[in-house]
Amino acid sequence: MVEIRTVGVVGAGQMGGGIAHVAALAGYEVALYDVSLELATKGIAKIAANLERQVAGDKISASDRDAALARLKPADGVGALASVDLVIEAATEKEEVKRRIFQQICPILKPDAILASNTSSISITRLASGTDRPERFLGIHFMNPVPVMKLVELVRGIATDDAVFEASKAFALRLGKTLTVSEDFPGFIVNRVLMPMINEAIYTLHEGVGTIESIDTSMKLGANHPMGPFQLADFIGLDTCLSIMQVLHDGLADSKYRPCPLLVKYVEAGWLGRKAGRGFYDYR
Ligand code: CAA
Repeated sequence: MVEIRTVGVVGAGQMGGGIAHVAALAGYEVALYDVSLELATKGIAKIAANLERQVAGDKISASDRDAALARLKPADGVGALASVDLVIEAATEKEEVKRRIFQQICPILKPDAILASNTSSISITRLASGTDRPERFLGIHFMNPVPVMKLVELVRGIATDDAVFEASKAFALRLGKTLTVSEDFPGFIVNRVLMPMINEAIYTLHEGVGTIESIDTSMKLGANHPMGPFQLADFIGLDTCLSIMQVLHDGLADSKYRPCPLLVKYVEAGWLGRKAGRGFYDYR
């Protein structure tokens, strides 16, 4: 029986911070690792602010917040991952970055530690093959914002061990999430459906069918989406949207997944969405 008691999260950004947040709240001891102690500490400050929002909204108590914060430690170097049972990588959505991280951390991890990627579209089987433990590797894909969104997509690589998969299921259920299982194909389920919708919204703008505001309002009020496609793309990050479209286009070799040239142009301009202060909307 594989049991997960302690968790390491690699990447203290929006996704990594959210994963560390929900894991600590569910009772796991969590080490949050990033390239520097300063970034990991900043990540924990952001988590503290988000826990506060949950206290203000009566979602959790002040003592739940304090207990979660006490379980969260910023990692001062990769050594902090040496004793954890599960590591979830939530770094940039770039395959070479993820591969480099796995090469760096695998020699430090316990031999039986489970290694998971929060990748939103890259092949789990291929990522696993770049590690020393393909049978203890899988995809655990969270949605943004992690503390609010109920879904976790679990993705089994070709070599993933059944006991590892079951332990990861139990972990995600303990976080209070609803699980879906996706086979390992580009974009899995959520992004196979969501990203072409966002890309099509950008084509709709590019071809002059409607303005950003009219397309967003149409989808919010006409399809009951909580955010319009441009608001959502800015929220996810346009670089992430482009990377996912490229994975779909390359992996499925179908022109229907061609990234819209306007999306490419925005990313080339550095207009990456909310995090950059500018995307389809201006946040400055
Ligand atoms: N941490 C904790 N709580 C948070 C939070 C966070 N990071 N972000 C929002 N909240 C809470 C707020 O405090 C608020 O709580 P109360 O109800 O207690 O007031 C609640 O969530 C709603 O937030 P807001 O009032 O600020 O705003 P909203 O009602 O407009 O909701 C939203 C914001 C939840 C983001 C909503 O707009 C939404 O659901 N948008 C769609 C998000 C979505 O589709 N995400 C998936 C993206 S795809 C993905 O992640 C996969 C991928 O691989 C790219």
